[in-house]
Amino acid sequence: MKTYRVAVVGATGMVGRKMLEVLAEMDFPIGELLPFASAKSAGKEIDYRGKKYTVIETNEENIKKYAPEIVIMSAGGSTSAKFSPLFAEAGGVVIDNSAYWRMDENVPLVVPEVNPEDAFNRPKGIIANPNCSTIQAMVALSPLHKAFGIKRVIYTTFQAVSGAGVNGYADLEEGMKAIADGEEAPAPKKFTHPIAGNVIPEIDVLLPNGYYKEEQKMIDETLKILHAPEIKVTATCVRVPVYYGHSESINIEFEKKVTADDVRKVLEKAEGVVVMDDPANHVYPTPLYATNRNEVFIGRIRQDFTVESGVNLWCVADNIRKGAATNAVQIAKLITEKE
Ligand code: A2P
Repeated sequence: MKTYRVAVVGATGMVGRKMLEVLAEMDFPIGELLPFASAKSAGKEIDYRGKKYTVIETNEENIKKYAPEIVIMSAGGSTSAKFSPLFAEAGGVVIDNSAYWRMDENVPLVVPEVNPEDAFNRPKGIIANPNCSTIQAMVALSPLHKAFGIKRVIYTTFQAVSGAGVNGYADLEEGMKAIADGEEAPAPKKFTHPIAGNVIPEIDVLLPNGYYKEEQKMIDETLKILHAPEIKVTATCVRVPVYYGHSESINIEFEKKVTADDVRKVLEKAEGVVVMDDPANHVYPTPLYATNRNEVFIGRIRQDFTVESGVNLWCVADNIRKGAATNAVQIAKLITEKE
């Protein structure tokens, strides 16, 4: 079997470490593993399948020296802006988890269950991994769009603190501890308000149109991935005191007359989807259930009686797995299996 020189850039970070875990679980054909991070981590050791690997500093010289064939990257936007083109120039296919390249018209934005063919048209040698909230919504909406034609979507998200990195996670952990100890919560490091015992309708920076950027990302990325600029999309994104797993209430209006049962039947056959929908027996997905699983879980599929043809559903996935690491590794698999 052909094997590859695989770089994980940001290998010391929360998503990078999960990428290594998913690469091992999926038995990715790695000939040589190359963990890259910043100068600060160079020389540290990381573990992959019981073996130690030394972290490599990400710089031009090392990129040329190691010339990885597959580069899976989760090291932030500015790192990706600087180094992705260099990895591509050195012959690598770059799969980048940051937001930096996502809306570049010469960079495909790929969810393997939805638009795998786009991964093979990459003029810059770079493929972007979509935003975590967008990925899970796409796995749910793409088969419905193909079957019935979507006219309008309203997203309301309930997003875990792990999506805001280590400091977001710490804000919830420390806040919960303070509540348990009957003390006042410490000032948050990451969020603009305490997150323990709270919800915060603010994710990413405020845009001039009144939306926070996470909301705009969901709107723009949905249209790009589905190749459907005609769909009307709006979003409200909310941070909730949950460690892992993003939940989404999705209201969909269709072009064709569709019932909740029609939607359920399509989703039961959809790739990457697990339908958990028996509300009488309290069966629906929750973020705790979705944690550490790779699929997108869907429940509460029900008619929206206020429009001609509309359905509401509840969609949950692990934001660090399907929302980031799993999707990126699945893209890498697409490339190695087809090229
Ligand atoms: P490092 O640990 O050396 O700072 P997280 O999102 O969990 O904070 O992880 C971010 C990841 O991106 C880390 O692995 C981090 O490495 C890496 N990173 C940050 N800045 C750079 C950079 N300039 N070059 C390469 N990797 C970077």
